[in-house]
Amino acid sequence: MCGIVGYIGEKNCVPIIINGLKRLEYRGYDSAGIALIFDHHSEVIKNKGKVSLLEDKIDSLDLSANLGIGHTRWATHGVPNEINAHPHFNTSKNLYVIHNGIIENYQTLRTGLQKLGYEFITQTDSEVLPHLIDSFLVKGHSLFKSVQLALSEVDGTYGIAVIYEKEPDKIIAARKGSPLVLGIGENENFVASDVSAIISHTKQIVYLEDGEIIQVFKNHFNAKTNLDKEVKKEIHEISMTLDEIDKGGFPHFMLKEIMEQPESVRNSMRGRILFDEGTAKLGGLENVADRLAASKRITISACGTSWHAGLVGKYMLEQFTRIPTEVEYASEFRYRNPIIEKDDAIFFISQSGETADTLAALKEAKLRGALVLGICNVVGSSIARESNAGVYTHAGPEIGVASTKAFSSQLVVLALITLLIARKKTMSLVDGKSIALELSHIPEKISEILKLNDEIEKIAEIFKDSKNFLYLGRGYNFPVALEGALKLKEISYIHAEGYPAAEMKHGPIALIDENMPVVFIAPKDSTYDKIISNIQEIKARRGRIIAIASKNDNEIDKLVDYTIKIPDTIRILMPLLTVIPLQLLAYHIAVKKGLNVDQPRNLAKSVTVE
Ligand code: G6P
Repeated sequence: MCGIVGYIGEKNCVPIIINGLKRLEYRGYDSAGIALIFDHHSEVIKNKGKVSLLEDKIDSLDLSANLGIGHTRWATHGVPNEINAHPHFNTSKNLYVIHNGIIENYQTLRTGLQKLGYEFITQTDSEVLPHLIDSFLVKGHSLFKSVQLALSEVDGTYGIAVIYEKEPDKIIAARKGSPLVLGIGENENFVASDVSAIISHTKQIVYLEDGEIIQVFKNHFNAKTNLDKEVKKEIHEISMTLDEIDKGGFPHFMLKEIMEQPESVRNSMRGRILFDEGTAKLGGLENVADRLAASKRITISACGTSWHAGLVGKYMLEQFTRIPTEVEYASEFRYRNPIIEKDDAIFFISQSGETADTLAALKEAKLRGALVLGICNVVGSSIARESNAGVYTHAGPEIGVASTKAFSSQLVVLALITLLIARKKTMSLVDGKSIALELSHIPEKISEILKLNDEIEKIAEIFKDSKNFLYLGRGYNFPVALEGALKLKEISYIHAEGYPAAEMKHGPIALIDENMPVVFIAPKDSTYDKIISNIQEIKARRGRIIAIASKNDNEIDKLVDYTIKIPDTIRILMPLLTVIPLQLLAYHIAVKKGLNVDQPRNLAKSVTVE
């Protein structure tokens, strides 16, 4: 959600910032802008729409500077247009600020600044920042001090980068609740909201913590807290490569990421399955595994697709560990005074590790003394760092806004956690071994399903103009129905709902007619006969059915309009297979509708505002 890139050094920063913004564009893409400081003057260029439009505008100006900041926006306050795009500036147009997050008390600050004579030209909350900083600069404070003083008046969240024509040797960056990193180079340094923006230039990364302000020069940097205490920052060497964040020959990141799943789920389980002992080895949970097994209750909190993974996790944990498990939207959890007992364990699942609601819920749970555990994909992310312990999913960078490989990797990690806890409790060695072995076969089964891509594309062609879709599943496949519906609505803008198959009789059946496609997730498992009855109920009302079915099921073809046949596995792992055709179906429908699948309207990859 919004992207930040800044550069200070000896090179021309324009292409560096523009390329960085392109890498961040998946986070927000309704407008973009750049501010540059030259020897004795500065310039700001902004544009509505994608970064490529900003690039065209800048190319025609032929600019070169050694200091600059750039931003790609996902609008919160004020429509996406050129004026509201960042960087924002002060009245003298010599101080520039880019901001991710939301300033909650911006109305009060704005009114106060207006009384001092500051004029506002945008509808954004962020514009208070350059004026507020300016109000301290005019009193004779340095840029660093002015930023520090300004931030002490700000309520809300921010990741900011600031540059000033009169102090052209530095970028000031600060964070509270919105990610920000510093990249260290040779005679050059970078700031960014996400390492992917600067990975082609450096792998030496410093992560800013909440409440820290950093002064970045071309050859060094220093950090302080908001309360002016010096902070010693550690430099981390990161392993992500540029290849990992390129499309690798695929037309879209989403398709690449769907196709990568045999490998990404393999990476999620690599070195973590103990076949002989029928359990899992999860280094990040080693110190808390006994405490976890002794928990009276487990809560899983997350948002979006990660919340769906959490629902599957509930089925897994309750079936095999018998620990009552609740799943709650992070946004609800944090505001409703949740009951948290001292023996509770709370998992927070997040691909990005930066989702504002999930992070805030985690902080609330931590404050109340719960064992707080993270399941994150992005290494070094805020949720990963704030957790008492946790597990990385190791799915690799996920760029497509609609989450695919992150979901399957979350399921793998949840299955491993289930094995780890259950084997400490009542699960037998034989059962543990058979789950472990079956888990190791999942990658090849996913590969088999991916070969159905062309077949699924043909089904997408048939249904691409439908206005509504219903997704139905039972047990472990009910959360998959929710996820399938979410995938479709996110990228194709078709209204879709997921339901437990049997619940369909209590309302959604009223919607069924010949125009309503219904996707049934109907593998041969213990609820198969029941789901066949539900299929009959839909057929009797002339609904059109696409079924995800077991490959040895020859009966179902007679009942439904289209089948997608997948290999079998045990129930606990079924969602890892049944979700794959649903991802492909959503993808192909969106492509056939001519939509931008990687950057769907109104969405953002990482939602760092509440
Ligand atoms: C956004 C994304 C979703 C994602 C959700 C939670 O809404 O568009 O794809 O599932 O945030 O993100 P997280 O990074 O916490 O898993």
